[in-house]
Amino acid sequence: MAEPIKVLVTGAAGQIAYSLLYNIAKGDVFGNDQPLILVLLDIAPMMSVLDGVVMEIQDCALPLVHGVIATDKEDEAFKDIDVAILVGSMPRREGMERKDLLQANAKIFKTQGCALDKFAKKSVKVLVVGNPANTNCLTAIKSAPSIPKENFSCLTRLDHNRAKAQIASKLGVQSGDVKNVIIWGNHSSTQYPDVTHATVKVEGKEMNVYDAVADDNWLKGDFIATVQQRGAAVIKARKLSSAMSAAKAISDHMRTLWFGTPVNEWVSMGVISDGNPYNIPNDLVYSFPVQIKNKTWNIVPCLKINDFSCEKMKATAKELLQEKETASEFLSSI
Ligand code: NAD
Ligand code: LMR
Repeated sequence: MAEPIKVLVTGAAGQIAYSLLYNIAKGDVFGNDQPLILVLLDIAPMMSVLDGVVMEIQDCALPLVHGVIATDKEDEAFKDIDVAILVGSMPRREGMERKDLLQANAKIFKTQGCALDKFAKKSVKVLVVGNPANTNCLTAIKSAPSIPKENFSCLTRLDHNRAKAQIASKLGVQSGDVKNVIIWGNHSSTQYPDVTHATVKVEGKEMNVYDAVADDNWLKGDFIATVQQRGAAVIKARKLSSAMSAAKAISDHMRTLWFGTPVNEWVSMGVISDGNPYNIPNDLVYSFPVQIKNKTWNIVPCLKINDFSCEKMKATAKELLQEKETASEFLSSI
């Protein structure tokens, strides 16, 4: 059997982690033959809740779990980790935009970036989930100069899954029949869910989504708005932000990073924009279509971008530039 890998989940006493930890522990993310040491970080007041989570992990009696470390100390949590899933942070409430969380959460990603730099393996793969996820990811990258920028990504797979599900539901097919949707830009209400290059299998025949849906107004209107606003709709209904679907998307994201994308398919991921082929400014964490091989992502090149898409891609980049400025002003003032 392989050596255990150390997987850190922050915010481990919170609601996303409660769904996520079971997926990871039973082998759905890193494989059924990959033993794990789970490292669970939360803040001091949550340690008794975290004790309960540890008891439940033990009671699952899962063979892949070779150890559980629960702590409120960053030096212990980040020591020699192979994977960091950074969830721990404040979620938004009804009426807020995700960027309203910048001041509450930016500092966490600065200190945790520093902890990654100091204590983690240099090969660590880091997934930022806490909102605003793209800008927090950029903050973590800048705070961890000894770790390659390419090892970092932020979660837009939830938006990607939402887009697939909306198309599938419109056409009365399964979401597995929909391929190659793209989420461009920020995990925010300016994100651009794009199905120009997506395909769908209808009655056994692979078709372009635009041709299959045959409703330009819906694809350019309600479809985009529904995906952009889905997080807010869940909060309005549940009075809590999405957790089960977020945990599923985190599992999908990490599993794809670990095992790669199927031939001729891509997924959406927030990654560093340096040198991207779509004229998005450098030094942003921007969601692109990526293909993954050997745990390394590459932005899908040469996709034709029409004028409608180009405007939407620019608008979400503009918001990310503003968030970056706000975060850097705030972090330099504390
Ligand atoms: P939650 O409040 O249920 O849990 C968050 C946990 O983080 C809490 O236990 C809290 O004590 C802990 N925490 C706070 N500061 C911490 C720190 N410095 N170190 C470690 N732990 C810390 O929230 P949740 O519903 O699990 O959501 C967590 C975050 O994920 C929020 O920012 C939310 O907006 C974000 N989110 C992102 C996506 C996405 O697609 N990118 C999807 C859903 C939620
Ligand atoms: C989501 O997309 O559901 C999460 O980012 C939570 C939120 O604030 O919307």
